[in-house]
Amino acid sequence: MNKPNDLARIDHDDLDTNVSTNEHFSTVLEKRLSRRSLLRGGAASAATALLGGMGLSACGGSDHDDPAPAPTPGGSTPPVTAPTEKLLGFTAVGKSLADTVSVPAGYTATVLYALGDPLTSSTPAYKNDGTDTDFENRAGDHHDGMEFFSLSDSGAVSTTGVARGLLAMNHEATTNEGLPSFFVHANGGTNSLPRPALEVDKEMALHGLSIVEVRNNNGKWETMSGSAFNRRVHQQTEVQISGPVRGNALVKTKYSPDGTKFRGTINNCGTGRTPWNTYLSGEENWAGYFTRSATDNAARGDKSVASLNRYGLAQGAASRHGWETGGADDKYQRWNISKKGTSLDGSDDYRNELNGEGYIVEMDAYDKTRPLKKRTALGRFAHESASFGKLVAGQPLAVYMGDDSRGEYIYKFVSSAVWNAADATAADRIATGDKYLDSGKLYVAKFNADGKGQWIELNIANAAIAAYASYKFADQADVLVNARLAADAVGATKMDRPEWCAVNPATGEIYYTLTNNSNRRIEPSGSSQQAPDAANPRSYTDMKGSTAQLGNSNGHIIRVAEDAAGSSATSFSWDVYLFGAEAAADAARVNLSGLTNDQDFSSPDGLAFSTSTGICWIQTDDGAYTDVTNCMMVAGLPGKVGDGKKVNLTYPKTDGSTLSVDTFVGKAASAETLKRFLVGPKGCELTGITETPDGKALFVNIQHPGENTAAANIGDVTKFTSQWPANAGYGAGKRPRSATIVITKNDGGRIGS
Ligand code: FEO
Ligand code: CA
Ligand code: CA
Repeated sequence: MNKPNDLARIDHDDLDTNVSTNEHFSTVLEKRLSRRSLLRGGAASAATALLGGMGLSACGGSDHDDPAPAPTPGGSTPPVTAPTEKLLGFTAVGKSLADTVSVPAGYTATVLYALGDPLTSSTPAYKNDGTDTDFENRAGDHHDGMEFFSLSDSGAVSTTGVARGLLAMNHEATTNEGLPSFFVHANGGTNSLPRPALEVDKEMALHGLSIVEVRNNNGKWETMSGSAFNRRVHQQTEVQISGPVRGNALVKTKYSPDGTKFRGTINNCGTGRTPWNTYLSGEENWAGYFTRSATDNAARGDKSVASLNRYGLAQGAASRHGWETGGADDKYQRWNISKKGTSLDGSDDYRNELNGEGYIVEMDAYDKTRPLKKRTALGRFAHESASFGKLVAGQPLAVYMGDDSRGEYIYKFVSSAVWNAADATAADRIATGDKYLDSGKLYVAKFNADGKGQWIELNIANAAIAAYASYKFADQADVLVNARLAADAVGATKMDRPEWCAVNPATGEIYYTLTNNSNRRIEPSGSSQQAPDAANPRSYTDMKGSTAQLGNSNGHIIRVAEDAAGSSATSFSWDVYLFGAEAAADAARVNLSGLTNDQDFSSPDGLAFSTSTGICWIQTDDGAYTDVTNCMMVAGLPGKVGDGKKVNLTYPKTDGSTLSVDTFVGKAASAETLKRFLVGPKGCELTGITETPDGKALFVNIQHPGENTAAANIGDVTKFTSQWPANAGYGAGKRPRSATIVITKNDGGRIGS
């Protein structure tokens, strides 16, 4: 969640932008998750095959649940796992408003890597008083999606190392609470224009990606501040434009007159990892960082106005931080994308700059000499995670993605190249990315009322796209850059804010968090609101104290089972795995999954399947239930599409008629299949989750603790709403900091057992 500051009074996170069901459900049997060889997504499935061949499976190459522990670099041997392991055997963590990280008895959560931590041996320790600089060599802010890349004990690329590795992560944003960057400037930052260059420089460096080496030193995880692997990617880092949009007129700028490169990557949220062991980062709410003049529509006088408006950048709207006022240098000026130049192609200004943001970016975490690439074939929107479907040799790869704004869509990319398992260990990982991610088909999802759905290809040859009245597409690159408009043209289903997706390795089914939607209304008013439909069936009133919250306040998790063609299928079945709800909410209309006090959650966001245990980890970014509890993590053992039932919801309308909506809800949660595992400190969201291949160290990101601190309190740290992680004994100063924690089990077992 990113709150706007006074420079931009809009919420950039919420841009508006069978009939007989029994037939297809009755054939499906509940399938319990295997306790071994469950890997996250198809990428991991490749690793399974590979590791199995090497006799070194993360889950045990031999026929038992736990492998022998690997020695740590220090030469010691970690504790042996308890012989009797029961997944979700822990005691549920209660809802909490405490300013701390709560985990079950028998587990330990330790702060590992926080905002400002040095990434070189010569960078001074973080003082945490707003005077620190040099963020190009420090951890960025708002830790978000994250992936662990194993290293061998000697520091070589590995898929099995459990004692040494690289954490690659997104630094999405910085906390704005009426001041531009509340906790990283001594006074919260200058809340007027022009912004001082030094403040802008600091804020630009806080956004981007970081890589930090971590090691298990005799049972204690620590970062290696002097590691040669450590890296920061920020707003001055060159990134290549790759795929069908490379060189297109839509991305020509003063910085790159031939449209082949871009400066930086921003508002990076969800992540993914490829089957060839690279990092994928989704660019999410990027539009709000830019501005254009109040007369820019007339200056342009072309179809780019329709594109800019559809992607949330109206003329005259203020930018989030006012970076364009930092000075005359292009590194500031490029945030003002007004048409200023006289060229026909935009190569003398930054009118096309916005077309360079909104992609899935690929990075080789192991090799900082290799370029980052924006993979344009995967489409341009507010990206979250990117999750690979089950890998099948000789078949195309499928990459599942969502667009997080109210009423936006769910997408799938299908590669032209077919999977060759040898590529899992390719020496040139970025070239492998070129092979699979630069050519393919992009599809958008349409969910039907009968529990089925279609993937509709976004192709310039589709008559609905070619003849679309609201925007005249020039070519396929234009379709990819303006994927939202193309999806509008084909009538895709408007969803309740698609956040992360993850593939269940046991079934190959794709899970999507739909975090919430305040615009889902029984009687929609205006084009930005949507009536309940089968896949987004709830609209209700939830009370937060005395405040009525409307729409789908608590969100849900939808899941998709591809039809027989697998990755390249154009039809699927779906149901809702879980509906977020308060335990006490109406069981017939709201708490449709029957959540209890040990399970209830709101606004699911981060989502990942453990590569070791198969547990489905659900993380929340909530503002609806936060009068009762801070954000949290819940552990699930899901079944599969069709294991539940059809439910009918009826809504009375003002004219006396009734809106009737049928939906499909998965098997109700039980104490054996869903349990709260963690509650975070005050004001945070839980996001970013990754693990060592043995499932014994779980890395989790705590983003923006202390959010909602009043601007007037900037001078009094005791009035900040959170002092975490200082109150957990980590680091200097008391200002709250986004941070990575590592969770271990005291008996050395796998996390979630
Ligand atoms: Fe950055 Fe949609 O969460
Ligand atoms: Ca409530
Ligand atoms: Ca998110």
